[in-house]
Parts: sequence; structure tokens; C-alpha cells
Amino acid sequence: MDTQKNSSFIFSVLVLFFFLFDSTFSLIDQADVQNDGSQGHSLSKLFLFGDSYLDTGNNNLTVRCWKFPYGIAVPGVPTGRYSDGLIFTDFLASFMGIDSPLPYTQWIILSKSRVTFGMNFAHGGTGVFDTWMKEGNMTTQINSFKQYIANGVYNQRELDESIAVVSNAGNDYTQYYAVDRGTHEEYQAFAAKVIDQLELNLREIKKIG
Ligand SMILES: *[C@@H]1O[C@H](CO)[C@@H](O)[C@H](O)[C@H]1NC(C)=O
Ligand SMILES: *[C@@H]1O[C@H](CO)[C@@H](O)[C@H](O)[C@H]1NC(C)=O
Repeated sequence: MDTQKNSSFIFSVLVLFFFLFDSTFSLIDQADVQNDGSQGHSLSKLFLFGDSYLDTGNNNLTVRCWKFPYGIAVPGVPTGRYSDGLIFTDFLASFMGIDSPLPYTQWIILSKSRVTFGMNFAHGGTGVFDTWMKEGNMTTQINSFKQYIANGVYNQRELDESIAVVSNAGNDYTQYYAVDRGTHEEYQAFAAKVIDQLELNLREIKKIG
């Protein structure tokens, strides 16, 4: 069963949340990004949570995103992104003038220097609730982030220089319909649960910084 493919066709609703850790919910402010010294501070880190719209390679090598034809345009081989090339995360990082943050599953084995640009906790195929992708729901991703902070990888000053980005595009609904065979009658109640859980998650992320 190819539930991932279904998700991109059936569910086109992409919910992307941005916020600065140290202010109220807000879109990225060009002035902050440029760090002109008079207002805000430089935004040098990205922390990403959610699904394939943000994941730059957290899923393990057995997952389809690591196989042809993913990545054929850029860089020519699969990178674990659900794209033929770069994704939103990469463009946002580029706009901020930083490298795309390492997927946390790769950070352990690669050079630790790129930790300076933040870390990517997003996993393709995941939702706020558990899905067919056994890689961790959004709560698990947030807990991983908390663990890094508890271990001293990031301090408060660094969090102040960060943007958190959250994507929850529809994997919960694919799980509901295609895997759990949920009914249309109960769909609205399920959607309400997804939104409530997403709100809890967003509040939790906000609280961290
Ligand atoms: C997320 O995953 C964890 C670990 O498997 C689980 O304990 C928790 O209940 C899940 N949370 C949600 C909201 O589904
Ligand atoms: C890789 O990820 C898939 C999808 O979550 C999972 O089913 C599988 O057990 C994982 N394999 C390994 C070796 O971790």
C-alpha cells in the first residue's frame, strides 16, 4: 500500500507555522534576518518539526525518499528529501544566509560544526499522531529537541537566535482514511483532535524558547 503517494494527492492542505522563539507568532521579518544591529538580533538557526515538507534526510535508508528518482535534479542522487531537488527548508535557510540545518539523525555521524545552523527534526510521513511511518510523531520530535537542550547542545542565547518551523500537511488524515479506514462521519471529530494536538505541540515548542 502506497499511503505516502495518496497523501500528496488527496490532501493538499499544508499548514506551515513559523515563529521566532522570543516573540509572539510572527512571520519572518527581513530586518531581523539581516541583523542590522538596531533591532532584533541575527537569526542564525532553524529548528524544524513535522513531515516531508521540511525533512531533509531524517528517515532511514530503507525509506523510499532515499531511492531513485528522488534528488535527480539536485544534487543528482537521493538525499532523503521528498523532492527531485531542494525543499522549502533549504530555500528558507538560504534566505537566512545559513546552511540547511542537519537532520538530527545524521548529526551524530557527521561533522558537528553544522549544529550552528540549528537542527532538523522533521520526518517524512509523520503526523501529530502516530502514522504508518514508525519514525516518531511530532511530540517525539519535540522531545528529541528538548533532549539536545538538556544536554547543553543549545543554550538560551542560541534559542533566541532561532526560528522554529512546523509543518503538518496531512499524514494524520492519510493514516485515518487509508490505514485505519476511518469513516467520513467521524472525520470532523478526528480533524478537531489533530488541530488540538497541533496546538499543544506549537505551545510546547514556544515554551522551549
Ligand atoms: C507519540 O509517540 C509517543 C512514543 O511512541 C507516544 O507515547 C505518544 O502517545 C505519541 N503521541 C501522540 C500524540 O500520539
Ligand atoms: C526504517 O523506517 C521504516 C519506516 O518508519 C521502519 O518501518 C523501519 O523499521 C526502519 N528500519 C530501520 C532499519 O530502522
